[in-house]
Amino acid sequence: MPVAHARVPVVPARLDPRRSAFVGAGREGLPRLRARAFPPRAPRAPMASSTPSPLLGAMDPAIVGDRGPLHVRTPLLLSQPMSAALGRDVYVKLDALQPSGSFKLRGIGYACQAAVRRGATTLVSSSGGNAGLAVAYSGQRLGAPVAVVVPETTPEFIRDRLRSYGADVIVHGSQWSEANAEAERVAERLNGALVHPFEGETTWIGHATVIHEIADDLAALGAPPDRIRPSAVVTCVGGGGLLAGVLRGLREVGWGDDVLAVAAETTGADSLATSLDRDEVSTLPGIASVAKSLGAASPSPAVFEMCRGNPMVASWRVSDADAVEACAKFADDHRVLVEPACGAALAAVYSGKCDALKAGSIGEGPIVVEVCGGAIIDRATLDAYCEQFGVARGGG
Ligand SMILES: Cc1ncc(COP(=O)(O)O)c(C=O)c1O
Repeated sequence: MPVAHARVPVVPARLDPRRSAFVGAGREGLPRLRARAFPPRAPRAPMASSTPSPLLGAMDPAIVGDRGPLHVRTPLLLSQPMSAALGRDVYVKLDALQPSGSFKLRGIGYACQAAVRRGATTLVSSSGGNAGLAVAYSGQRLGAPVAVVVPETTPEFIRDRLRSYGADVIVHGSQWSEANAEAERVAERLNGALVHPFEGETTWIGHATVIHEIADDLAALGAPPDRIRPSAVVTCVGGGGLLAGVLRGLREVGWGDDVLAVAAETTGADSLATSLDRDEVSTLPGIASVAKSLGAASPSPAVFEMCRGNPMVASWRVSDADAVEACAKFADDHRVLVEPACGAALAAVYSGKCDALKAGSIGEGPIVVEVCGGAIIDRATLDAYCEQFGVARGGG
């Protein structure tokens, strides 16, 4: 095989960890954000606006600027253990290695760049999850103050992690809807941009870059195009932003009619599958899954329309137990920790229960699994999940 090693992304070594702060109440009783000093970034080769990088897909060079996108190019690896499990080539796209800990940085980083370019002076998020972390990281890189409004239920370690990127954490209300309403008010009064965790064409354009990288990596293997194109890309689904980006990217590289998108959700966080079953956008009564990052009560209506009746999308449900077992196996096989949200996609291979990937259902091309990552995990938490679901450590 001509490619013997993957290019490892270079992440800025140390970003300024200093916390900015709301420095007391402003005139309208609102906190005022203090501008921060950021270390100069290492110069990069300028990207001429007339020749955008093919790896950036439909990203506007005027928005990305000379410094490029905020996300990094991640490795695509041929996974020997997963290939053995499925009996065909399985590649893993390691978006868990994005600096904010998940794929979210692709689209949200781009949305933040676009907002700042439009003149927003503050970035605001109401996500205490990976979307909020991506906004916080982006603000730090862009030198833009960030406010993340979270409900009282958000654990202290997440608040600390957001603060570690310099974000100001505002605790408001007992549930997300109250925090979100406050985030809207904060954004309006501070001339800020409220960055949605999964909605929006700009965000999807950013997420689509994952497919451009995959196409480029597979092409580098040197096989003829019909042997390179994957038969399926497996991704998980929360609100549907990542899936929207994957579908967009597949269209952009000319694979839209040929590559199946497997859309994995855990039972209990299966708002897209439920909506497709009922043929209408549906709202779950609650989230009954440990894959909290997939916990959008209802999917993006636009993403639902993209999937409805689409033969190139296979919606698939997986149990929490299988998702957690997949996380444990992946940690053992590839030494990377991911959230159960990501385990849902990994389980399509490891569990052997995904009919759409079974021999005879699809073509002979490789399978690519988007390892979307997630930062809300550590060894102790994964151990606790394994204990809860009776998953033996060591991937057994
Ligand atoms: C780790 C992880 N995976 C998947 C998702 C789902 O992404 P989306 O809401 O774009 O479908 C999320 C959302 O927060 C996430 O944090």
